[in-house]
Amino acid sequence: MERDALIRQMNQGLSLEYALMIQYLQQSYLVQGLSRAVYHDFFIRESEGNRKHAQQLGERIVALGGTPTVEPATIRQTTDLAEMLQHDLEVEREALRLYTELANAMADNVPLRLFFEEMAFKEQDDVWELEKLLEQHKVAIPQKEIRMQRIAS
Ligand SMILES: [Fe+2]
Repeated sequence: MERDALIRQMNQGLSLEYALMIQYLQQSYLVQGLSRAVYHDFFIRESEGNRKHAQQLGERIVALGGTPTVEPATIRQTTDLAEMLQHDLEVEREALRLYTELANAMADNVPLRLFFEEMAFKEQDDVWELEKLLEQHKVAIPQKEIRMQRIAS
């Protein structure tokens, strides 16, 4: 991939990380009711995680001779908890798609390929966690009860 195109795509990632950082932080302010007991800290933690991702991208954009953007991608706001998580999931999925694409485009550049693979790996974990919070993983339990078999001696 040509250098300018790479920097442009990394800046897209940086914009997504900024958007997530701000979106999660605002959600930590807005979440109320009993959910606040759990989600206030959750949103702060996620915001901080995405700040770190932004930092990692920004440092590498400069190392490649680019200027890191200061513009966040679209930020969506709501006071409804499920909607908040859905908004976060959509941006995390976009970041996962972008880093996967970038990792695949880095065939000749092992360090950058590893970097984008690791970014994709982290985003995948965030996507799975949000999907679980939104109960999107239906698990079928095959047996209601499991009994230990007596081992014949
Ligand atoms: Fe991130």
